Amino acid sequence: MSNRLLILDFGSQYTMLIARRVRELQVYCEIWPCTRSFAEISAWKPAGIILSGGPMSVTEEGAPHPPAEIFDMGVPILGICYGLQVMTQMLGGEVVPGDTREYGKAHVRIDHNDGVLSHWATGSEELVWMSHGDRIAAPAPGFVSQAETRDGVPAAVANLERRFYGLQFHPEVAHTPRGADVLAAFAHDLCGCTPSWTMAAFVDEAVATIQQQVGPEGRVLCGLSGGVDSSVAAALIYRAIGDRLTCVFVDNGLLRKDEAADVQSIFGDGMGLPLITVDAADRFLNGLAGVTDPERKRKVIGHAFIEVFDEAAHALPDEYDFLAQGTLYPDVIESVSFKGPSATIKSHHNVGGLPEHMKMALVEPLRELFKDEVRKLGLELGLPERMVHRQPFPGPGLAVRIIGEVNEASCALVRAADAIVREEIDAWPRHRELWQYFAVLLPVRSVGVMGDQRTYEATCAVRVVTSVDGMTADWVDLPHDLLGRISTRIINEVRGFNRVVYDITSKPPGTIEWE
Ligand code: XMP
Repeated sequence: MSNRLLILDFGSQYTMLIARRVRELQVYCEIWPCTRSFAEISAWKPAGIILSGGPMSVTEEGAPHPPAEIFDMGVPILGICYGLQVMTQMLGGEVVPGDTREYGKAHVRIDHNDGVLSHWATGSEELVWMSHGDRIAAPAPGFVSQAETRDGVPAAVANLERRFYGLQFHPEVAHTPRGADVLAAFAHDLCGCTPSWTMAAFVDEAVATIQQQVGPEGRVLCGLSGGVDSSVAAALIYRAIGDRLTCVFVDNGLLRKDEAADVQSIFGDGMGLPLITVDAADRFLNGLAGVTDPERKRKVIGHAFIEVFDEAAHALPDEYDFLAQGTLYPDVIESVSFKGPSATIKSHHNVGGLPEHMKMALVEPLRELFKDEVRKLGLELGLPERMVHRQPFPGPGLAVRIIGEVNEASCALVRAADAIVREEIDAWPRHRELWQYFAVLLPVRSVGVMGDQRTYEATCAVRVVTSVDGMTADWVDLPHDLLGRISTRIINEVRGFNRVVYDITSKPPGTIEWE
């Protein structure tokens, strides 16, 4: 029996969270679209299967189903929300349509603490995040109710003999405070998975895989961006093949204060990793002269990056057969969508999403990992905390935080304000809860007074958000004294700004970056 779980995705916004929670229990799992064939599923030999939630109703035409044979595999199956309903329907129960799918807090009474509820006490009440959608009018044969809400809505059912479990609530979300107990009961006790998925174990396995892929002579080229993903990928590959790895760091002139020096000191001086820094600020700024359109800026930067990287690679004495890329698991999960394609909002540029014409094989050692795992891996590999807990920084850098033309002066202005925002917020004890915090240069000039002088200068917007994955975000109600300090310091210390405003837009409708 394998030691890993399979999550079949029916399109829920929470599917990735299920996987992250299972991994936190140190059990490896993967997310596959629910449309995968039984042959593939059975060949993968999961120790158990989780059927995710989803936006559709099982009573609708075209509602997705897992292959029916999974119910004969003899492995435990946990259905969550839609997963429960589709299992009920396929196994002969009856599901009736509800109105729309809604979520809400509910107290459920545990009637039988068997199966996935075994870590909870019979007779106790638990706070859970319920989804109210379709209703189970008749459970499938062999299933019994295990828990109900205070209003008598079934919250958990089980067929203990066949080891099938269904939940109408979401154990994976933070709103179900003890939800990890349920997933632990499923993963550890019922599926028999041992908690062995740790970053220490991962390093050994990944090092061996990289060595095997690259071979005893192969050389790997890696574009370091200073961000967490490319940094951790580089550190891991370096562990595997030593100085047959060369990193190229492009200073595009759009970096934050001290960023280039930091990369040099951590990787070059600290780790002794072969690192080439290319100072290409002039090239990027020349290309950006007169460009104000956000998409155009992104294109110019993307192209310049490829050119500079390509030239740097060609100037190296050795031939490189492999290109490292910091691809993460969320980038490779095959998504199922029952809502049609989404529009491109911004064309992202990532270091790593590199020269298509450079025909090199890819080394992607982080392909199996979520961001929080990459951070743990970074620490395991000895990278400093400040590097591992860096905020995300967009590939086009400060250029997308300068509304209007990007030039040396506007870069210097936003860079100085950004350094103050970071310094002040880094000193705030709760800064780890934040996703990003930065300054934006607005080309809006307004009148002010400093000393006895009239001023007529630009505006600095401060943006601070929380987010789980960058897809949605909330603005943060920072302590007012902290905001006050940031504002005073920017105006006193950065010549060129005479007004500071705070961005109180969430995403959606705003995006995190301004361009
Ligand atoms: P938006 O602005 O689209 O940003 O809400 C979502 C997240 O993505 C980051 N971002 C980028 N990251 N290359 C990147 O690697 C890019 O071109 C890029 N643009 C935005 C942004 O900082 C936020 O975390």
